[in-house]
Amino acid sequence: MLSRTVARLSLPIHRLTRSLSSSTMAYSASPATSSLQDQAAAATATAAVPASPAFNTILETVDSATISYPSSDLEDPTPDISQPHTRHVLEQAAKILRDGQVVGMPTETVYGLASNALDSAAAQRIFKAKNRPQDNPLIVHVSSLKMLRSMLKDNEIPAVYSDLIRTYWPGPLTLLFPRSNLIPNEITCGQATVAVRFPSHPITRALITACDRPLAAPSANSSGKPSPTLASHVMDDLKGKIPMVIDGGQCSFGIESTVVDGLRVPPAILRPGGVTFEQIRQVKGMEQIQVYQKHFTDAAMEQAPTTPGMKYRHYSPEAEVVLVEYIKPEEAASGAGSGSESGSGSSTGQYALIMKEIERLKQEGKKRFGILRTSFTSAPPSTISKSGNGESSPAQSSTSLDDSVIEFPLGQGSRPDDVARELFRGLRFLDGQHVDCIFVEGISEVEEGLAVMNRLRKAASRTIYSGPTVFL
Ligand code: TXA
Ligand code: MG
Repeated sequence: MLSRTVARLSLPIHRLTRSLSSSTMAYSASPATSSLQDQAAAATATAAVPASPAFNTILETVDSATISYPSSDLEDPTPDISQPHTRHVLEQAAKILRDGQVVGMPTETVYGLASNALDSAAAQRIFKAKNRPQDNPLIVHVSSLKMLRSMLKDNEIPAVYSDLIRTYWPGPLTLLFPRSNLIPNEITCGQATVAVRFPSHPITRALITACDRPLAAPSANSSGKPSPTLASHVMDDLKGKIPMVIDGGQCSFGIESTVVDGLRVPPAILRPGGVTFEQIRQVKGMEQIQVYQKHFTDAAMEQAPTTPGMKYRHYSPEAEVVLVEYIKPEEAASGAGSGSESGSGSSTGQYALIMKEIERLKQEGKKRFGILRTSFTSAPPSTISKSGNGESSPAQSSTSLDDSVIEFPLGQGSRPDDVARELFRGLRFLDGQHVDCIFVEGISEVEEGLAVMNRLRKAASRTIYSGPTVFL
């Protein structure tokens, strides 16, 4: 049996002697600081952001199986890292982050673009690389409850979150806390609250621990594009604009975290995500939780950048996206949508409607179409082959009915978790095929389906529906 060397990542991380190079910058280690207050003060002293250098973006692969957590303790967990390469890459990335730069990193939801959350100049680099609107606040990521407390007002975690944290952290759940002065305005964009998440991905956790400071990270896409779920997506959008990307394979959830405001009465889900409404309302104190735009709306919130994904264009590929609403089985049975057979499994009225619409668009001169499929009544075709780190080979990623239509199976609509995992990858894949129009077969808004449909409604420029009732 192979014996593996297990080394503990000790903190603060050792100074790096190797100088990392980009085309225009050399990095020097910043002094280790003892507290978040010291770190914040040191970061605030950082000079104004210089003109953006062009980077030779380093892409390093890390196997998450080489990082483990022997204890389930969240107070101050320490990772075991079994491979020198993993330790080296984490130290390299941590040094770049401590020096005020940004790094693309995998998380269990989507890839994030990280910077030191206590450094306002570093945060500005995120906005610049992504071309993100200046008033859209960032989520702060922590790797221990100790780190969370140290950045909160009076070092206290509000009691309303106790059971949520115990049940769903680490994981795809973001919580709003009253903001303390430690968090720069560039992160919160003037809000009285700061959004915090304790991710479960071993690479994200170990990287935050290696930095020994919280990391701000939005999704690592160019603003407006679908979020990245593979390192190659980050490279497609940000190569040359950032110094480093860590490749940790395909993100397991594939959609962003659920954002919960528990400071409101009743508590609210501002953005549905990886932890579902059905799961959250089971938690003590969360029984009355409401989903924004489903159970309540608010005219002021509608315009606010703090309502995730409301004010700005989101998740939009270059091609026009058409959402084909889900048809409930009883409506389909009553003849609301007439089914037909397709080349890739049984179909429902959604598919028939798409075929009709494609014929109409062809008359208008449109030539190439993509379909993100969920309406299989039998198992979806297993035509997607993935290499080690989740890349799909374009030739095998889809089924092609004829030259004009490319299908990409997201998964069965009855398995919304599968659909969520593939959604952004499918949008990006079909966009890469230079289709004129992408049709997406919508799914029922239960469990992860709520988050999937939330993203699709933002991505779509129009919605079509073949049933008797019009959904708004
Ligand atoms: O899963 C995720 O949450 C990923 C990974 C990288 O952690 N991050 C992510 O970040 O999705 P981003 O920036 O793409 O979306 C964060 C959303 C934004 O729409 C923002 O408006 C909202 O969270 N947000 C941040 N701070 C907030 C606050 N104080 N109050 C309300 N919403 C806030
Ligand atoms: Mg985003």
